Amino acid sequence: MSKGTYYITTPIYYPSGNMTIGHTYTTVAADTMTRFKKMQGYDTYFLTGTDEHGQKIEKKAAETGVTPIAYVDRIVAETKELWKLMNIEYDDFIRTTEERHMEIVQKIFRQFHEQGDVYKAEYEGMYCTPCESFWTATQLVEKDGQKVCPDCGRPCQPMKEESYFFRMSKYQDWMIRYIEEHPDFIQPASRANEMINNFLKPGLQDLCVSRTSVKWGIPVDFDPKHTIYVWIDALSNYITALGYGTDHDDLFRKYWPADVHLVGKEIVRFHTIYWPIMLHALGLPLPKQVFGHGWLLFGADRMSKSKGNVVYPQPIVARYGVDALRYYLMREMPFGADGNYTNESFLTRTNADLANDLGNLVSRTVAMIEKYFGGVTPAWDPAASDAELDNPLREHCAALPALVEEQMNKLQFSQALIEIWKVIGECNKYIDATQPWVLGKDPEKRGRLGNVLLILAECIRFTAVLIGPVMPNTPARIFEQLGLTDETLKTWDSLDCFGRLPDGIRVKKGEALFPRIDVKKELEILSADPKAGGAAKPEEKKEEKQKKPEKKAHEEPEFPESITIDDFAKCKMQVARVLNCEKVEKSAKLLRFRLSFGADGERTILSGIAKFYDPATLIGKQVVAVTNLAPRKIAGEESQGMILSALDAGGNLRLMSVMDGVEDGAIIG
Ligand code: MSP
Repeated sequence: MSKGTYYITTPIYYPSGNMTIGHTYTTVAADTMTRFKKMQGYDTYFLTGTDEHGQKIEKKAAETGVTPIAYVDRIVAETKELWKLMNIEYDDFIRTTEERHMEIVQKIFRQFHEQGDVYKAEYEGMYCTPCESFWTATQLVEKDGQKVCPDCGRPCQPMKEESYFFRMSKYQDWMIRYIEEHPDFIQPASRANEMINNFLKPGLQDLCVSRTSVKWGIPVDFDPKHTIYVWIDALSNYITALGYGTDHDDLFRKYWPADVHLVGKEIVRFHTIYWPIMLHALGLPLPKQVFGHGWLLFGADRMSKSKGNVVYPQPIVARYGVDALRYYLMREMPFGADGNYTNESFLTRTNADLANDLGNLVSRTVAMIEKYFGGVTPAWDPAASDAELDNPLREHCAALPALVEEQMNKLQFSQALIEIWKVIGECNKYIDATQPWVLGKDPEKRGRLGNVLLILAECIRFTAVLIGPVMPNTPARIFEQLGLTDETLKTWDSLDCFGRLPDGIRVKKGEALFPRIDVKKELEILSADPKAGGAAKPEEKKEEKQKKPEKKAHEEPEFPESITIDDFAKCKMQVARVLNCEKVEKSAKLLRFRLSFGADGERTILSGIAKFYDPATLIGKQVVAVTNLAPRKIAGEESQGMILSALDAGGNLRLMSVMDGVEDGAIIG
């Protein structure tokens, strides 16, 4: 029987570029929580999706030479692939460009207008004409004593635009009271104080909710020169996905209000002030909780494409498996705090926690059951207990589900895992204390030896069930080694008492769950892959990267000049479109290219072909570039790759290009 409903959401992500390990972090957290609640018997609903409107996407698409919808379609397809790879089991994926969403957003907007919550007025701000963007005084940046556009650095002019505004100010006191009276609403609690002190008490401004200068969005149906911009569109996804406002709103009636919205800390304000006010204005209950988690940093910075320090999950999953990455993301930093992603900390943790602690416990226990009992779990011998040694571990393990549940209910994934690993650590100590290899030498201690191994195997069963929400692939591999086929012993409910593991089951030693990693070697490989964060730290392993890889005798190629297909695969070449091209001032040879790699973003590459081309003639052309070279400084500027060219018969360098129909960013190989 269901324990009740549980509705959890991630933010809907901007499909302006491919999802990074940062977006993956939130999504894995939501998936982990869903799996945990499902395992406990809740009727869960997990929503994720994409926030597809707005100027940024409009611009990106234009730069790439495709329509906005074609642009986002491609990223959405790749996002869904990534979630599949990461073993994300969402119930629905909402796109804000879907009819089901757009229709209801228009209806909501109309209702706000009819109620007087939304009104039309003049918006006054500083306007950047080339970017078609309004900026508030605080958003502008100072350059040479002038206030300039934060995006392009050009001067802005004061400008007025007719806009719709949401009367947020009317709800300010209600909102403060609500937050104060519902201490669990905003988590971690420190973020609630931040909202009250920084945004609500100083006076809540009305929010501009439409633009006439942006076309890529949902039109205001009663005034179509206005586009709904952009938070009313985005935030409504949490209810439009459930069919709110339609005749088929069963999901809405069943699952709303959400149990928790997971959001990064930078968008807590929108979810804990604007969204609750919108819901209140619609007469709807508020989500039970908004959890603002911290950022996964790379070095000292938040990951960002413009800084070139983005890490993508795919290469990490390809080398070490999805469960290792999911474990790391949930274990490394407390949910709510910032933390640093480094390949080194990932590899070190995988070795310590997964290969050593968990992996060794399973392989040692299974190996000992094979060695001493022919691979079949022995019967419990009531006469062979050692209460002093056994009871602390048995009791600790029996209490583990409750400890894990307590932490999971607070979304403290890392603490929940720490609790599980305490038991794993205690098991490893228990092996040292009981010394099964000594017991095994004495036939009279056979009963005792059997009990020790049964206790260990039962602890492993508990562990396997409890890690499942974080590492969905690993439990089945452990159960297989334990020889456990009874499905009822793989459930949360079966952890209600310690000692359910039956005797007479045949264990089966398998491959190491998490093979030990050679950290130094793997770091070298990852540092050569910009998608695995390698590009951001070119200096890290420079010397090692220059070393030729050692060749083993049997791998010596038949033709000394030839390379293997693996050697070729190391070189990543992509098609790119020239967005801009100009001479580098201090150099007679160099041209500076700004290139678009489609969904893989943009880069700057310098190339020594100034003698052979007029830069203006290259803009808009497609070229071919090597993109996994470590960035290097040329004439004091960073070049992020190499553009390919060939010498013609007259000794002129000629750029390589591709035949028609190849998309920007396409990989060559
Ligand atoms: N579209 C808005 C959200 C609208 S929700 C109604 C948006 N999109 S986003 O693509 O920028 O995604 C932001 C979210 O992605 C963050 O709130 C966070 O959940 C996740 N993260 C992206 N990069 C991250 C890190 N480096 N670290 C942690 N989370 C990050 O904002």
